[in-house]
Formats: sequence, C-alpha cells, structure tokens
Amino acid sequence: MKKTWFTSILLTVVALALLLGGCAEQKKEAKILKVGSDTAFAPFEFQDEGSKDYVGFDMDLIKAVGKQMGYEVQVQSMNFDGIIPALEAGNIDVSISAMTITPERAAKVNFSKPYYKSGQSIVVKADNTAIKSFADLAGKRIGVQIGTTGAEEAKKIKNAQIREFNTAPEAFLELKAGGVDAVVNDLPVNEYYIAKSAAKDAKLTGEPMSSEEYGIASSKKNAELNEKINKALDELKKNGEYEKIYVKWFGKKPVQ
Ligand code: ARG
Repeated sequence: MKKTWFTSILLTVVALALLLGGCAEQKKEAKILKVGSDTAFAPFEFQDEGSKDYVGFDMDLIKAVGKQMGYEVQVQSMNFDGIIPALEAGNIDVSISAMTITPERAAKVNFSKPYYKSGQSIVVKADNTAIKSFADLAGKRIGVQIGTTGAEEAKKIKNAQIREFNTAPEAFLELKAGGVDAVVNDLPVNEYYIAKSAAKDAKLTGEPMSSEEYGIASSKKNAELNEKINKALDELKKNGEYEKIYVKWFGKKPVQ
C-alpha cells in the first residue's frame, strides 16, 4: 500500500515537472509572423544600404504590432503584385506594403483598420513645364508600378501610354532617362524620393489625384489574426508608440 502511494506521488511529480518543462520550452521559442512586402518603397519599406535590414515606417509598425501580439516578425521581400496571391496561398501570414485598401482587394484579403492616409500624385522632370495637372497627362507617356492604385489611376487618363514597372524606383529611373514624361505614384513616396535623391532631377506637380488609406492585409482564412492586428494598432495608438514611429519617419505628428 505504502509503496503504491509513494510510486503514484513520484509519478505525479515527474509528470508535472515534464509538463512545466515543456511549457518553458515553448515560451522560449517566439512565434513567427511571416510578413510579405515589396521592400522598394521608401520611406515605408526599403533596404538599409549599410545593414541590409528592411527599414521604414511600415517595418517599424509591423514589428511593434507583432511584439504587441507576441510574435517576432520575419519579412519576405516580394513583388507587389505577388503579395495578394501569396496571402491567398498561405505563404505569408500578413502583408504590410503601403497597400491601399480597395474594394477589389478587400474581396480577396482582410484589411486592418487604416493606418496611414495617402493618395496618388504626379512626378515630372524638374524642367517640365507642360504637365501641371492630371488633365495635362492626356496623351503622355506615364510610368507606374505594376498592380498598384497608381497604375489604376493612370489607366483612366485619355490616350496615355502606360509603362508598367516591377518597382517604383524603376519607374523613377525611366523618368530620369527620359523614357516617360511622368510617374504616377503614392505622394509620400514621391516626396521622399525627391527630398532624398532627386531634388535636381524631379519635382511634384499638380494636386494629389486620389485619397487613399493603407491597411495591413491578412488571409481571409484567419479572421482572428485581423482582429488581433486591429487590437494591437489600437493599443499602439493609445500608448504613443504609433505616433513615435510616425514622427521618426515623417518628421511630424500624424493627421487624425
Ligand atoms: N498604395 C499603392 C497601392 O496600394 C502602392 C503600394 C506599393 N507598395 C509597395 N511597397 N511597392 O497600390
């Protein structure tokens, strides 16, 4: 009798120890959030020349969102037009890529609450005086990034010759080379490009053409993930972290 008691207590202790040990083991391994992004879109996502790390507003934001949810983020660079297919195929969990929330995209993926207000704008060569507005783009050669809302806007322009590039920097290069008359692309990205690398070559012209909002996209199969992202965004807005990241990249406080 005594012996059986002793054995069962011993077994219980051993079992508990194993269980606790297992839990501790699991805690050590951070959960990974697989993030897809087209990392050639400064200041939202781009590769730091020195460290080769992916940096930018979106990168800081998704790291903060991930941390809030208990995940470590792992960024995979991919073509912008491959992001939604990658989400649908389950190759990535989420995407943060300065992606405008549109009804067409929202039919395929879930979007978080908007996290940034943006719009399309026009960039021309610094010495261009012919293009001053959206209307002046009629019949012109326009560079855009493939699969973007900029490409959609440009396609509405009468008789325009649209040239689609894999990345926004390629469209800017073509403008510099004289292969296109204008680039239609997200305003904050155009502003950053001009300020950082093309003040002598390029300028903004006309009024912003559209008003858009960026969202973090995730698979429709995981509605819970989208809810968690929204909660994390709320929390980051409340605790000041969102504003800190915004000021770091844009030098001003976010517009509400
Ligand atoms: N906001 C635009 C869109 O959703 C352009 C986004 C491009 N993003 C990028 N990382 N290249 O279509």
